[in-house]
Amino acid sequence: MANKKMRFGTKAIHAGIEADPSTGAVMTPIYQTSTYKQASPGDHKGFEYSRTGNPTRKALEDNIAALENAKYGLCFASGLAAIDAIIKTLNPGDEVVSTNDLYGGSYRIFTKIFEKYNIKFNFIPMGNISDLENAITANTKLIWVETPTNPMMNIIDIQSIAKLAKQNGIRLAVDNTFATPYLQTPMDLGADIVMHSITKYMGGHSDVVMGALVCNDDKLAEELYFIQNSSGAICGPQDSFLVLRGIKTLHLRMQRHSENGKKIAHHLRNHAKVDKVYWPGFEDHPNHEVAKNQMKDFGGMISFTIHGDHKEDAYKVMSSFEVFTLAESLGGVESLCCHPASMTHAAIPKEEREKSGVLESLIRLSVGIEDVEDLIEDIDHALSLVKVQDVVSTS
Ligand SMILES: Cc1ncc(COP(=O)(O)O)c(C=O)c1O
Repeated sequence: MANKKMRFGTKAIHAGIEADPSTGAVMTPIYQTSTYKQASPGDHKGFEYSRTGNPTRKALEDNIAALENAKYGLCFASGLAAIDAIIKTLNPGDEVVSTNDLYGGSYRIFTKIFEKYNIKFNFIPMGNISDLENAITANTKLIWVETPTNPMMNIIDIQSIAKLAKQNGIRLAVDNTFATPYLQTPMDLGADIVMHSITKYMGGHSDVVMGALVCNDDKLAEELYFIQNSSGAICGPQDSFLVLRGIKTLHLRMQRHSENGKKIAHHLRNHAKVDKVYWPGFEDHPNHEVAKNQMKDFGGMISFTIHGDHKEDAYKVMSSFEVFTLAESLGGVESLCCHPASMTHAAIPKEEREKSGVLESLIRLSVGIEDVEDLIEDIDHALSLVKVQDVVSTS
């Protein structure tokens, strides 16, 4: 069956994967080799050297491309290595307009690595399309969108931005890490490139660091493959195997993350010690309608603040959890929590970070696929240990 005709769960399990031609092995073997025998120079079976291409990585790249409804897939050593490859398609003097509420490491690579090569980055909120229209200049070559955003769960209208990008001859790249192709497929909404930190939901088991890109345009794909091979930030075959295995349950995991996420978001909202809860499934979320249109469900990422906004209270809650683990990262089967202001977003200056809502008491939850009752009990127990002095809402 052609990949396009398969439904999502079938693609997750089968797309890009064929029984191994030499043995019939049903699961893609780990081709732990750096090089491949040639009969005479240039006469080989499609693989020459594993930086350029490896059969295990290739199966994964084809699988991810199929899930994102794209023609080409490329895997990298990390999400940041994938971002690095996209920015290397630009030239000195080019400009990028990016969402202002984004992963701190993306902000860091943009400002600390690429600004010194004279690529300019302009960070703006993208909830309102006219702000983006005003930020575009004759030198803008790329629009960078993360949606839902990390950690504020803002939703950006991919289709409207893609339209504006096309009218202006600008490429649109979407970081789809939080949603995964199970919840949204930005290529279908007009994006030119989709990027993933595969480390998160795609891998799904917190045991691999990896990144990926997909695109449809032949010339862009050629350029990205050239950068992948020339800069060399590729992932290994063992990690490719683990991610292939993880992806086989992506649809089941995302369904459960979304179910648990919904119950926990509502529970937090009704909790006396909790001030604001950020989750795109709430009907009064500022871009709920866009989320409903472009996403299948709302996922398991939730951020919340505690009344009074004291960092110590957030620390107390996070260190009192028994099921949620305080750790960087997200998207694994196990529930994690983090303190964006001092962890994932520490690279963003305080004023910049607070402008987008990353306050001192903000806690980000990556709701896992455990029994939700255990997660709720864990949250209630941890919050019961906090003495909230100032219960005046910050809204
Ligand atoms: C939204 C988002 N994009 C990109 C990255 C970077 O990915 P990696 O850690 O795999 O380099 C992360 C990592 O946390 C992320 O959350």
